[in-house]
Amino acid sequence: MVNILITGGAGNLGSSLACKLIENGSYNVIVIDNLITGNIGNLPIGFKNLTFLESNVNNYTQLSEIMRKRKFDYIFHYAALVGVKRTLDNPMLVLEDIEGIKNVLALAKETGVKRVFYSSSSEVYGEPVSLPQNENTTPLNCKLPYAIVKNVGEAFFRSYHKEYGLEYNIFRFFNTYGPNQSEDFVISKFIDAALQNKDITIYGDGEQTRTFCYIDDNVETVTRVFEESLYVNEVINVGNTVEISINELASTVISLTHSSSAIVHLPALKEGDMSRRQPDNSKMMKLMNRSLLGIEEGIKKILSIRYDIPPR
Ligand SMILES: NC(=O)c1ccc[n+]([C@@H]2O[C@H](COP(=O)([O-])OP(=O)(O)OC[C@H]3O[C@@H](n4cnc5c(N)ncnc54)[C@H](O)[C@@H]3O)[C@@H](O)[C@H]2O)c1
Repeated sequence: MVNILITGGAGNLGSSLACKLIENGSYNVIVIDNLITGNIGNLPIGFKNLTFLESNVNNYTQLSEIMRKRKFDYIFHYAALVGVKRTLDNPMLVLEDIEGIKNVLALAKETGVKRVFYSSSSEVYGEPVSLPQNENTTPLNCKLPYAIVKNVGEAFFRSYHKEYGLEYNIFRFFNTYGPNQSEDFVISKFIDAALQNKDITIYGDGEQTRTFCYIDDNVETVTRVFEESLYVNEVINVGNTVEISINELASTVISLTHSSSAIVHLPALKEGDMSRRQPDNSKMMKLMNRSLLGIEEGIKKILSIRYDIPPR
């Protein structure tokens, strides 16, 4: 059996990855999560090769006990404090995640882990200096604690490889959405409001754009990078390139849910709401060999999977 640890595996991305990996009977998947934003209900029950352990990766003693006992072959380090508002409101808690990164890497080195996969973020690019954002040529312009932690994390991964030969893949995830996402992400928030015909609130004029990647496209990329040993010791952007403004996103959700919600604009956030973001995803597309799911199809999938609303 191949022993795999997913930290933050009760969250949106981690739980979807766990579901995919356990389809392979030769993988034994252990999820650890402190459930700060994750939900144990995201994980399927009744699989002998999936175990959930409640634990905080930022606590060395807790993590060390698990990692020394289980001897993992591979680790997906996805645990992090997330959400724009939560991370702006709790900068000290965000910075604590540096401990988790150090714990994972130190114990990976010590216990003979073969490769560690790190969920970095498009936030490392900060306010865009050029678009699309390329892994090697776009300068990292990040200033906020969440993005700085991701950037520091990347430096730790590169350094562990340089000094100790520990292999890694760094994923710079761009906005990724799916049925297991917590309510504080924009698409979940909009869908929840629209289904209750409540106001959809947008910070600022709503002309800021984002690209949205459906979770299946993310998981397929990650799984192929893992199973085919692609882009080892490299950074790879994982995201969709199609930009949509937040106003357009709200209108799309309203139309697909046949909602009577109104769009209400709040004052712009003082920080943390980048004007645009768009990945150069050519590395990802080279391995995908198919087009990515569009936003309307993705929202329809969420409505069907999470809310049992059949596509119309
Ligand atoms: N979804 C996106 O659009 C996106 C974009 C860029 C980067 N990322 C990164 O991908 C990873 C997963 O994000 P997600 O969207 O699934 O968010 P999520 O909130 O659904 O998942 C994060 C999980 O980590 C857990 N967690 C947080 N701190 C922990 C700790 N100290 N110990 C143990 N568990 C802890 C949470 O409870 C949660 O289950 C995160 O590292 C995030 O920064 C996500």
